[in-house]
Amino acid sequence: MKIITISYKEAARKKNIFFSLFSAEGGSASGGQKESLAHDELFLNLPKRARSLLLKFTKTEFSGKEEEVKWLWTSLDAPERIAMFGWGEKSKWNGRKNQIVARRLVHYALKSEQKEFATPFGQSLGLPAKEGARVFTENALMASFDFNKYKEKPKAGWPEVKTIYLAANKDAHPEIKSGIAEGTIIGEEMNGCRELANTPGGDMTPILLASAAEKAAKHTGMKSKTLDEKEMAKLGMGGILGVAKGSNEKPRFIILEYFAGPKNQKPLVLVGKGVTFDTGGLNLKPENYIYEMHMDMSGGAAVIHGMAAIARLKLPINVVGIIPAVENMPSGSSYRPGDLLKTMSGKTIEVLNTDAEGRVILSDALWYGATKYKPGFMVDFATLTGAAHVALGNYSSAIFTNREKLQEKLTEIGKKSGDYVWPLPLWDEYLSEIKGTFGDLANVGSKDRWGGAIHGAKFLEQFTENTPWAHLDIAPRMTATESEFLAKGASGVGVRYIVELAKQYPNFISF
Ligand code: BES
Ligand code: ZN
Ligand code: ZN
Repeated sequence: MKIITISYKEAARKKNIFFSLFSAEGGSASGGQKESLAHDELFLNLPKRARSLLLKFTKTEFSGKEEEVKWLWTSLDAPERIAMFGWGEKSKWNGRKNQIVARRLVHYALKSEQKEFATPFGQSLGLPAKEGARVFTENALMASFDFNKYKEKPKAGWPEVKTIYLAANKDAHPEIKSGIAEGTIIGEEMNGCRELANTPGGDMTPILLASAAEKAAKHTGMKSKTLDEKEMAKLGMGGILGVAKGSNEKPRFIILEYFAGPKNQKPLVLVGKGVTFDTGGLNLKPENYIYEMHMDMSGGAAVIHGMAAIARLKLPINVVGIIPAVENMPSGSSYRPGDLLKTMSGKTIEVLNTDAEGRVILSDALWYGATKYKPGFMVDFATLTGAAHVALGNYSSAIFTNREKLQEKLTEIGKKSGDYVWPLPLWDEYLSEIKGTFGDLANVGSKDRWGGAIHGAKFLEQFTENTPWAHLDIAPRMTATESEFLAKGASGVGVRYIVELAKQYPNFISF
């Protein structure tokens, strides 16, 4: 897909034109959108016949209410077809809807098999030109993605939007172009992340995930290194090796490095859960819960492609990615409930439930990140708990941090990036609930299951060596929901958060 910025005059001659319009305030009859159309430069450049047709149409057929889409033929000349998208009342607009604009247009174009369209730039976004273009572009790319590589290609090829023309004033073109360039990189890397996460467990084993990371590193100029099980054993990574025991697939410890910042800048360390399939282990998941568990490496995929985006954007920071990759399987050699695993930190984990494997592998990864790299900030991304999904529903990940002062900033990064996060507490009261009986820490709450997402986070905190750190439980956002105009499957959560965090990192660590 190509996104090109052009003048209003040129755009008015394109075959398909998409307008976004608000409804009149208070839900009264039309009139509001007529007003906004009359001031739209693209509209004013349309041939007279098309203009009057459109005005008439907005009076009789189209009210601009949310989710309304109407289109009309004008003639066989350009524009042949005009589609109008209703966005409801302007006063009810919020920043989150900025994410949906491009997706909705692309979704409609794909469904109605239109290969290109022109649309006025920034109609509703209310963002500076560069940011608006970035947001539009990344979302347009996200909406054009479909995980179809396992399907037979139709004769006519897959539906595709080849070109989007963004109509704008000439003087805004340089800013818009630079936003498009940035959004393209971010959108492509998000889709790369979704491709990895969607790939079935049999084709995305720890070894294959490591190859994917190495490939991404080669393409983007990052350094990569992968430790095998022997090297992990030497380092004493008993958490990762414990979880990996039940599977025929060997575990891997993936490390990516991109050092483009000042020499004395402490690195940003990103850790991603890389469970390539989570059956639950001996505490086997019931059938309804096991289905999507090939996506339990979504955090790892986000770290790989978030870092690839950082490298392609040439952001001037030092960043390290760490992904412990394992498969969690039940077998004669599985780790068992009651096992006491010695982690790299020296702390032991009492396994009460083999399905709480994410925190067990992350314990070694966080410890490794904290002690080897002395990060300025460390963040992990993990599809850690169903409890986070219960707490927040489908639209936000949970965020925890051991630096409460940073909480607001971390939430803002979510808003700015489109990867929304919402805080849950990390109070010491919760620590007593995950103390082990025979080991230092139990891998699930030992009294009851209330606050499962917090237990997970509190457990992870014990392995951070008090490094400034945040944990994103991305389980709620692992898959896209129906209302967001994205293909079924992995949402690509994390990639955009990582990019925005990396952009802000130099200011971020001065606190
Ligand atoms: N990978 C799962 C969590 C998950 C569930 C992610 C659904 C995405 C969608 C994790 O390993 C897990 O099984 N967690 C358990 C923890 C429990 C045993 C304390 C859970 O959430 O049930
Ligand atoms: Zn699990
Ligand atoms: Zn898991």
